[in-house]
Amino acid sequence: MMGVLAASSHAIAQTAQQPAAPAPVAAMETCFTCHGENGVSRVPTYPTLAGQKVDYLIRQMSVFRQSQDKISSVPENGAKPLASRFDPLMAHVTAALSDGEVSRIAATLAQLPCDGGKTEAAPISQPVKPQVAQRCDVCHGEVGVSSAGNVPNIAGQQRGYLRRQLLIIRENAYGAASRESELWRTHPIMERQAARLSIEEVDMLAQYYATLDCRTTARP
Ligand code: HEC
Ligand code: HEC
Repeated sequence: MMGVLAASSHAIAQTAQQPAAPAPVAAMETCFTCHGENGVSRVPTYPTLAGQKVDYLIRQMSVFRQSQDKISSVPENGAKPLASRFDPLMAHVTAALSDGEVSRIAATLAQLPCDGGKTEAAPISQPVKPQVAQRCDVCHGEVGVSSAGNVPNIAGQQRGYLRRQLLIIRENAYGAASRESELWRTHPIMERQAARLSIEEVDMLAQYYATLDCRTTARP
C-alpha cells in the first residue's frame, strides 16, 4: 500500500507545499470500500478522491461532519442549514473524525495518483469541448484541473457523480427546500453557474469532464 505513495512522485511534487503529515493509506481502507482502491472510484455515484485538491477535500469533509448536527436543527420554515452539503453516508463516516485526522486524510488523498497509477500513455485525442464548458474554465481550468485550492478538479471524475452534483446544486439554486436525510448541496458561486444550465447542458458537461484524462491535465 505505501508503495503507491512512493510511486506517485509527480503527484507528491504537486502537493509538496501542503503542511499536514499524510495519514497512512491503510487507515483509509473504509473510505476505499466506497471510493475505490486508493481513492479511484469504480462506482458512478461515488467520487474519485485521489489527486483531489487538499483544501477542497478538507472543506468537504468538515462540511459533511458538521451537517449531522445542523440538519437536526433545520428551522420549521425550511431555511437552509448553514453547512453547505449533506449526504447521509458521509455525515456518518465523518462524524467521529478530528480536525487533525481530516487534514491528514486529505493530505494523503491529494497525493494518490488520480488514475490509480496507470502506466499506459494518455490518449492523444481529447474529447470535443462543448461551448458551454468555456464558462467553467476560469475556475476549473481549461481541461478540468483547477489551480485554486478550494476549487475541485473535475477531469476524469465519475460522470454520474458530476451530473448529480450539478443537478443538486441547481435545485438549490432554484430554491428547493432541503429536507431531512435528503442529499443536498449549496454553494453561492456554483449555484449561479448551475442555475444557468439546462439539463441537456448538465449531461453534456458531465460527459465531457468525465472523459478527460486526469493525468494529462494534472501536469502544467
Ligand atoms: C458508504 C460509502 C462511503 C464511505 C465508506 C465513504 N464515503 Fe465519502 N462519499 C460517499 C458518497 C456517496 C459521496 C457523494 C456524496 C454526494 O453525492 O454529495 C461521498 C463524497 C465524499 C467526498 C466529497 C468529494 C467531492 O469531490 O466533493 C469526500 C472528500 C469524501 N467522500 C471522503 C471520504 C473519506 C475520507 C472517507 C473515509 C473516512 C469516506 N469518504 C468514506 C460515500 C462514502
Ligand atoms: C467562479 C468559479 C467557478 C465557475 C465559473 C464554475 N465553478 Fe464549479 N465549483 C467552484 C467551486 C468553488 C466549487 C466547490 C464548491 C464547494 O466547495 O462546495 C465548485 C464545484 C463544482 C463541482 C462539484 C465537484 C465535486 O467534486 O463535487 C462541479 C461538478 C462543478 N463545480 C462543475 C462546474 C461546471 C460544469 C462549470 C461550468 C458550467 C463550473 N463548475 C463553473 C467554482 C466555479
